[in-house]
Amino acid sequence: MTSALSSNPLREGLRLERTPKPTILTIFGASGDLTERKLLPALYDLARDRRLPPEFTVVGFARRAWSQDEFRERMREGIEKFSRAKLGTLWENFAKGIYYFQGDLEDIASYKQLAEFLEKLDSERHTNGNRAFYLATAPSYFKPIIENLGQAGLSGTVQNTRIVIEKPFGRDLETAQTLNKVVQAVFEEKQVYRIDHYLGKETVQNVLVFRFANAIFEPLWNHRYVDHVQITVAETVGVENRAPYYDEAGGALRDMIQNHLMQLLAVTAMEPPATFEADTVRDEKVKVLRATQLAYAGKKIQAVRGQYQAGWSGGEPVPAYQDEQRVIPGAQTSSYIAAKFEINNWRWKGVPFYLRTGKRMPKRVSEIAIQFRDVPHQMFPGSAANQVSPNLLVMRIQPDEGISLRFEAKRPIADISIRSVNMDFRYGSTFEVASPEAYERLLLDCLLGDQTLFTRADEVEAAWTIVTPIVKRWDDKSTKDLNYYEAGSWGPSAASQLMDEGRFWRRL
Ligand code: BG6
Repeated sequence: MTSALSSNPLREGLRLERTPKPTILTIFGASGDLTERKLLPALYDLARDRRLPPEFTVVGFARRAWSQDEFRERMREGIEKFSRAKLGTLWENFAKGIYYFQGDLEDIASYKQLAEFLEKLDSERHTNGNRAFYLATAPSYFKPIIENLGQAGLSGTVQNTRIVIEKPFGRDLETAQTLNKVVQAVFEEKQVYRIDHYLGKETVQNVLVFRFANAIFEPLWNHRYVDHVQITVAETVGVENRAPYYDEAGGALRDMIQNHLMQLLAVTAMEPPATFEADTVRDEKVKVLRATQLAYAGKKIQAVRGQYQAGWSGGEPVPAYQDEQRVIPGAQTSSYIAAKFEINNWRWKGVPFYLRTGKRMPKRVSEIAIQFRDVPHQMFPGSAANQVSPNLLVMRIQPDEGISLRFEAKRPIADISIRSVNMDFRYGSTFEVASPEAYERLLLDCLLGDQTLFTRADEVEAAWTIVTPIVKRWDDKSTKDLNYYEAGSWGPSAASQLMDEGRFWRRL
């Protein structure tokens, strides 16, 4: 990855690490969960690891009447609870760079005052007009924020200003296109960082390293050797306290499939980029997403949705989705989705990609499983032949991060008897350091001006295009195909119908 914006060559030379320029990061929606749980803890961890310059400054923008001290105290609590680093002596210094700005997201006057405030901070904190704006609000505010930033003269230049936009980016293809136009009327694409925190996960980036820094796997990575791919993102938690957002989004399709799971599919299936640079990597992702489509059996869409009913999680009884706090009564929101996709290109023709994600599953596990084909000819006699299973490569995204390759081995007994064994790589025991949080990596990359791990305008539109048939179907309230599953189970049994003969969802 390259960056024209890193500074301090002496430190870089010594530490081989890049440090961003002194910058003010303004967070819109600073009273929300994301700021306290993810953003400030990630920034604190970066500061602790000396990845931020001392001048680095955060401005929290929200409507509430908080004093500077109240805001700082709230952030301190968030950091104490959620950051990897313990709150230590660093806090005092770090806190000096945190400011609160009370404003109204929809009122241009607030942005004009913000512009003055940022200018004042520039001279106090020596941030030289370098700005990043983080949209951590409900999506309905994205448009007014962007337009107001433009009108207040805060859009800056590619060199000094960036904007980070949280998901979901649009509600469907049309609204994503409209939002892209709103963004592009104010900012250049090189200033825009559409965030998908899955790309910030070490294990997801490692898919690229595994595929493109090793010569031996890539020749097998195609329809000649791969039977199918299964991508699973299972969570044990329910909707937590996020029902208003989740119901509004319609559940897992907009919350997980269009973004996180599509990104996992893209990094698994893309062609090797020529260089590891933002646009070459993203060009390849766009290409593979454009070749991807939802599978049909005749006219029937190959997608299944479900909602959890009461059940058990972690040994405790848990309520049905409908009984969770603040859920709209009777909401048809899907907390589980499984779907089959096809990639119509030379590499993947005929290889199904099965994706599933759900809340209130028995286990928290995210993985990409590459199921290889059977051997072309079975030479072992009798029962040994039946013992042979095809190879399987599993990239474990979380938890228990690692990669395992299953292959066949002879049991050490006189007869030919065959059993599957695993070769296993585990991050924890191999590297013996905790992986940085996804938000650390992504915030740092944004401050450094590196867009590689952020979704480009055409990419987000390509991902929406893929899910459009399901969006249309499930946005139609008259569609009656919502299944129910018990909390703590692996989802509705209807999902097994997506599997073609001889294929099964992995038991995890
Ligand atoms: C978020 C979704 O983007 O990702 C949540 O909005 C989900 O619903 C979360 O729980 C999962 O992220 P992770 O990193 O815990 O797998």
